[in-house]
Order: sequence, then C-alpha cells, then structure tokens
Amino acid sequence: MAEFQSVRGFHDIFGQELKKFRYVSDTVRSLLKLYNFEEIILPVVEYLEVFQRSIGEVTDIVQKEMFVFQDRKGRWLALRPEGTAGAVRAYIQNRLYALKPYVKLFYEGPMFRYERPQAGRYRQFHQIGAEVFGTLDPQVDAQMIEMVHTILTKLGISATIEINSIGCRVCRPSYKKALSHYLEDVVGHLCDVCLDRKDKNPLRVLDCKVETCKEAVKQAPKMVDYLCQECATHYETLRSYLDMLSIPYRENHHLVRGLDYYTKTVFEAVSDELGITIIAGGRYDYLVEEMGGPPTPAIGFAVGIERISMLVKDLPQEEPLYMVIPFGDTLDYAFEVIKKLRDMGKRVETSYKKANLKKQLELANKLKADYVVLIGEDEKRQNTITIKNMHTGMQESISFRELAHERL
Ligand code: HAM
Repeated sequence: MAEFQSVRGFHDIFGQELKKFRYVSDTVRSLLKLYNFEEIILPVVEYLEVFQRSIGEVTDIVQKEMFVFQDRKGRWLALRPEGTAGAVRAYIQNRLYALKPYVKLFYEGPMFRYERPQAGRYRQFHQIGAEVFGTLDPQVDAQMIEMVHTILTKLGISATIEINSIGCRVCRPSYKKALSHYLEDVVGHLCDVCLDRKDKNPLRVLDCKVETCKEAVKQAPKMVDYLCQECATHYETLRSYLDMLSIPYRENHHLVRGLDYYTKTVFEAVSDELGITIIAGGRYDYLVEEMGGPPTPAIGFAVGIERISMLVKDLPQEEPLYMVIPFGDTLDYAFEVIKKLRDMGKRVETSYKKANLKKQLELANKLKADYVVLIGEDEKRQNTITIKNMHTGMQESISFRELAHERL
C-alpha cells in the first residue's frame, strides 16, 4: 500500500525547524509578558458569521480561503483563518470590558487558510497575536510598533516596518470616491481581480502584486491627503512617538491590509531578505461595536511564526547532553546516576544497547552527546562515575556523593 502523505499545505514541524519555531514563540511570549499582556486560549472553530462579519465579505480570506463546513445540526462553522475575530468575540461574550479600563490579550495557535502553498505559505500555519482593547491613544499604536521592532531585534531579523493610516468612517468614503475615480482612468491596466475590486473594495487595488496594477496605481491619490482632522492628528502624533522611541519605519501609502476591519493605523514588518510580510497589524476601532459589543477602540498585530522561523539564523545554545553508558552488571547503579543527573537539571540520554566501548562511543557521537558518563564495575564499587568530555577528550572521575557539588 502506498504510504500516507499529509494533506497539502499541512506540515509536520520537527527537528531544527521546531527549535526555531519554539525559540520565536518563547521570545515573543516573554516580551508580551513584559508589556503586561494576558494569554487567552481561543477556539479553533467559530461560527462562520464571526469571520464574515469581521474580516469582511469582500476579502480574499472570506471569499476563497476559509475552511468552511456544516456540523451535524447543519450549522455553518469555519476553522479560524486568523485570531482577531475570535478575540473580539471572546472579549464581548465574556464581558471583559467590564473588568478593566483596557484589556491586553495575547493568543497563540494554528490558523487555517486555503491558499496556494509555497515557501512560507501554508494552509495550516501558526500565529502569536496581541490585541489591546479600550484605548484610542496613539501611544498604544507606538507601543505595538515598538514591540514589533523589539521582536525583530531580539531575533536578529532584518526587516522594514511599514506604516500607513487608512482613515475612519468620516474620511475614508471621500478617499474611496477619489480612488475609484482615478481607477476608472486606468482600467485598461488592471488585472481581472482588480477590475472586480475596483467597485467593491477599491483600496485593495493599491496592494495588488500584479506588475501592471502596481504600475497603474503609482500616481493614485494617497489616503494621508484625505484624512480628517482627528485621523491626521492621530497619525502625526504616532509618527512623533515613533521618532521619540527611535523606531525606524517607512511610510507606505499603498499599505491597506487584506482584512476589512482596519481603521487609522496599519503596519507591517517586511523581511529585507525575502520580501515577505512576517508581522502585521493595525487598529480596528469599530469592530467590537460592529460585532455587538460596546464602542471600543482596539489595535493589534500577529506574528507569523513559520515565516519568522525561516529567517532565524542562530539559535541559543542547547543544554549539554550527557550520555550514560553502563557496562557489566551495573544497571542499578546507572539508574541512580541517571536520576541524580536529571534531578540536577541535566539533559540525559542513555544507551539501551549492550555493546563494546567503541560502539557505545559511536552511538554517543551520533546522538551528539557532549559528555559520556561511563559506569563500569569499578565505578559501581567505588561509588564514582567516569565522565568524558566528547569535545576535548578529557576524562575525569567524580565521586557520586560529590556529584551535586561538581560544576558539570
Ligand atoms: P495577516 O496579515 O492576515 O493579519 O496575518 C498576519 C501574519 O500571519 C502574516 O504577516 C504572516 O506572517 C502570517 N501568515 C498569514 N497567512 C499565512 C500563511 N498562509 N502561511 C504562513 N503564514 C501566514 C492577521 O491575521 C490579523 N489578525 C493581524 C492583526 C491582529 N491585526 C490586528 N490584530
């Protein structure tokens, strides 16, 4: 029988890739704690409507990328394509707004999008997302962008932070009008998808990746020139805070994001090496209200863990590995030594096979042991262990009782 393969776009994460994955996750999580974010574990499945209402009906995600299914009672459900919609649903359902003046949540887990798989793009991928509910102050926008900058710095990743403001209910309609007007003049250069977007969601034409579309929108009107007073001040203040914090950024007037819930500030970190977006986010000041909660401004971002992992070059050094090798009738003593070493917090492997010293050392090398701990009849009798450094070849004898006091 042919062997089974994983489903296209669904991948196993292990070995070096997993080490990088965990390193990214641990680094981001520890930073989130310093910024006083609290974790929330959200369901992987929500009612389909949660995503339709929040991400928007006329977005790629909702129109063609969701894993949608009916449960046994015929209700339409979806695997979450992102975390913000569920976080907002949870914020409202659990009345988190009643607990604190503002609420800072983070979540981590798998997301699902039916996209065409390629390097760094999967159908099941993982995000760590952070959301702040309850404040419109541009300080928060600046702080979120500062976090993105710190994540990149801590992980040694070279990326450019791009920012833009896409306005609000007051100013966006007049910009949309101006943009639609402009797009009418360049219809001959737009791809089929953008011809459709032009009427339904014109802002999305601005970040189309097709060359002719990119060329066609070069002279398009800019949202920043249409911002209302409130949005303009908000954006200007944000930029002054970023300067105060010495956060380098680039304004990208074509940055609009692929999800409909955004207002005012949007931002992305784009890898300098691969040109792909690795962290992305923005404000969504109406979403809580639109989903049935009290009017609550909010902002957040999500880190694509696989995408960042691809860019991580150096991992922190692992704990040294001790390989315990018993010879002769010494298993009882070896068990004691193994336990003691693990009690001391050491990473221990052991040989399950009986073989001569040469074979055992070969095995230790294959398992990448840093030390071997040799336990023979002599060691058992004298209550000692012989420990050999596999890098230097140095060997020494240590008394079992003194083990805990030795600097291994
Ligand atoms: P997003 O831009 O759709 O935003 O996704 C955020 C990040 O998830 C991307 O920058 C990328 O690193 C990663 N990502 C997205 N799709 C894939 C994929 N198919 N394979 C691998 N990685 C992927 C959001 O999801 C928003 N919820 C972010 C946010 C939070 N905005 C406000 N709060």
